[in-house]
Amino acid sequence: MSTPLRRVLVSSSAIQRNVERLRELAPAIDTMVVVKANGYGHGSELAARAALAGGASWIGVADIGEALELRDAGITAPVLAWLHAADEDFIEAIARDVTLGISTIAQLRAVALAGGGTVHLKIDTGLGRNGVGREQLAEFLDTAAALHSSGDLVVDGLMSHVSGTSRAADLAQAEIFVRTRDLLAAKGVSPTHLHIAASAAAIDHPSLRFTMVRFGIAAYGLAPTTSHLELGLTPAMRFESSIVNVKRLAAGDGVSYNFLWTAPTETTVALVAAGYADGIPRAATGRAEVEIAGVRFPVVGRIAMDQIVVDVGDALVTAGDTVGIWGDPTGGTPSVSDWADWADTISYDIVTGIGNRVTRIDLS
Ligand SMILES: Cc1ncc(COP(=O)(O)O)c(C=O)c1O
Repeated sequence: MSTPLRRVLVSSSAIQRNVERLRELAPAIDTMVVVKANGYGHGSELAARAALAGGASWIGVADIGEALELRDAGITAPVLAWLHAADEDFIEAIARDVTLGISTIAQLRAVALAGGGTVHLKIDTGLGRNGVGREQLAEFLDTAAALHSSGDLVVDGLMSHVSGTSRAADLAQAEIFVRTRDLLAAKGVSPTHLHIAASAAAIDHPSLRFTMVRFGIAAYGLAPTTSHLELGLTPAMRFESSIVNVKRLAAGDGVSYNFLWTAPTETTVALVAAGYADGIPRAATGRAEVEIAGVRFPVVGRIAMDQIVVDVGDALVTAGDTVGIWGDPTGGTPSVSDWADWADTISYDIVTGIGNRVTRIDLS
């Protein structure tokens, strides 16, 4: 069988080691690893298994569909799903032991009606996104406490999510979180799991770790922000393609749509089979580089749907040569954060944007 044209090589052992390393920050508490959006593009089952091998005790996903895929794959560890449709049917999730992050009074009632599941109450402490808002909080806590005491559901956790705007802003959210925990305790409910910190807050603010931290991006070896580049984590994903054609250009020859680039001198260009449909951000046009045999070369001309063109100068390259698009920068390949910079976005956007026709290969 020929090599797949575009491939993502994923190292589960890198994910496992990253989780082991992150667990050293707070070994006494629970670690959740977030594998939503197909494990941030790495493959959700692979990521979940590697995370559990690295010491995670919980897996987090956004929605119930993602949680059920993990159950279908045979993953039996605790799984939390926190984003639900307005008319969500919780029956299957409850039957398959998916813990539900709950943000509305209607959801609390729906869970109770569906047979009573295990829930983590999700509080908006200031992010202004998912989680129960300030004006519904009192009634939400009353309803949760009543349903918990009547045995109609089990309140097993209290959770929130911080904005990362500043240390002060995150600590202010944590104060609201603590006050909510105390309000709930006054109603007779003291959940086992208290969690508010994702990668950046878990690394930066020990006081925000509570009983559990939720690592997403860091588990994949990527820095949550540029201030976290020195964590000693290993990127778990390498995105590769191959040269499919090589041409000699004369000075003045144009390349790709709208001739954004014309060859300044005679040069060799390599055509590479990957484009924006595969997740290479079109916005990186004019800035991106790739690696061929350990050497970086510029991507020239407009990034197209299926193809990019690389100016290799006078280097000897041939059709079939491997092209490193992103991966571990220690080997010369651009990093995911290089691509994020070139496309004026964040690493999360790069790894979750990989297209359907890219083959994932588990390197283990
Ligand atoms: C509720 C929640 N927790 C944790 C995470 C993981 O965040 P990160 O990838 O920054 O660690 C996310 C991701 O957006 C999230 O929505």
